Amino acid sequence: MGLGSRDADAGVVLLLGGRSEIGLEVARRLAPGRVVVLAARRADDLGPQRAELSAAGAAQVHCVEFDADDFASHQPLLEKVIGEHGPLGVTVLAFGVLGDQARAEREAAHAVAVVQTDYVAQVSVLTNLANLLRAQGSGQIVAFSSIAGVRVRRSNYVYGSAKAGLDGFVNGLQDALHGTGIHLLLVRSGFVIGRMTAGMDPAPLSSTPDQVADAVVSALYRRSRVVNVPRRIKLLFIAMHYVPQSIWRRMPR
Ligand SMILES: NC(=O)c1ccc[n+]([C@@H]2O[C@H](COP(=O)([O-])OP(=O)(O)OC[C@H]3O[C@@H](n4cnc5c(N)ncnc54)[C@H](OP(=O)(O)O)[C@@H]3O)[C@@H](O)[C@H]2O)c1
Repeated sequence: MGLGSRDADAGVVLLLGGRSEIGLEVARRLAPGRVVVLAARRADDLGPQRAELSAAGAAQVHCVEFDADDFASHQPLLEKVIGEHGPLGVTVLAFGVLGDQARAEREAAHAVAVVQTDYVAQVSVLTNLANLLRAQGSGQIVAFSSIAGVRVRRSNYVYGSAKAGLDGFVNGLQDALHGTGIHLLLVRSGFVIGRMTAGMDPAPLSSTPDQVADAVVSALYRRSRVVNVPRRIKLLFIAMHYVPQSIWRRMPR
């Protein structure tokens, strides 16, 4: 698909993290006429998600077992999806955990678990996926960074550090994929009001999964490198770098 095209790459829509609120909104928008594959833990328990995507017009919806923390399973899983359903059009890496910052400061194992899912597993999937898409010669990928990774805060530095690492990794991989025909989109959103942030007070410039998905899909069409959600949060991202550390360390979550 060329620049300015009003469609995403042809092929399967693969949602890694098949229950993600944001991921499902993206998949719903891309679903009409396509094969959608939901990859999630407890894949036999995805009835509502299947129904939602069928109602959105998906040609077929398939479910496959996926545990992001089982790194060895990533390549066989991606090969199986391509083998059974054909080339990948858009793959959305929507799995992730917020974790418990206070617990992560007490228990190293919890800190490692958060970073494992939010950074190491993403690196593993992205590397396998990039290699398979290179062979395929097409395909689009969506990866989710966050305001938490733009400048890491004391109040959520474990999750934030994983997002900062992912943000850097994706930037490098984007350059490695330059000229290959593969599009890797980096999403930097602020606070998203939804399940992951349930019970927390919305931060300024919050958005909803709907708004994030609208921005993601239009960035897929435009083949943008980065999409900030909402758009005006980019100014905050820039300003954040100029806040003195003595103030920054007291910033709330
Ligand atoms: N919500 C926000 O405020 C916000 C802001 C910026 C960026 N983001 C990022 O956007 C992405 C999507 O977030 P969301 O709000 O849609 O989150 P969500 O609704 O909480 O969905 C995250 C999904 O990840 C899955 N998951 C967690 N660990 C997994 C593992 N080991 N293997 C397989 N699946 C696993 C969960 O699956 P189960 O159903 O099995 O638990 C859950 O369905 C994440 O990367 C998140 O960090 C979110």
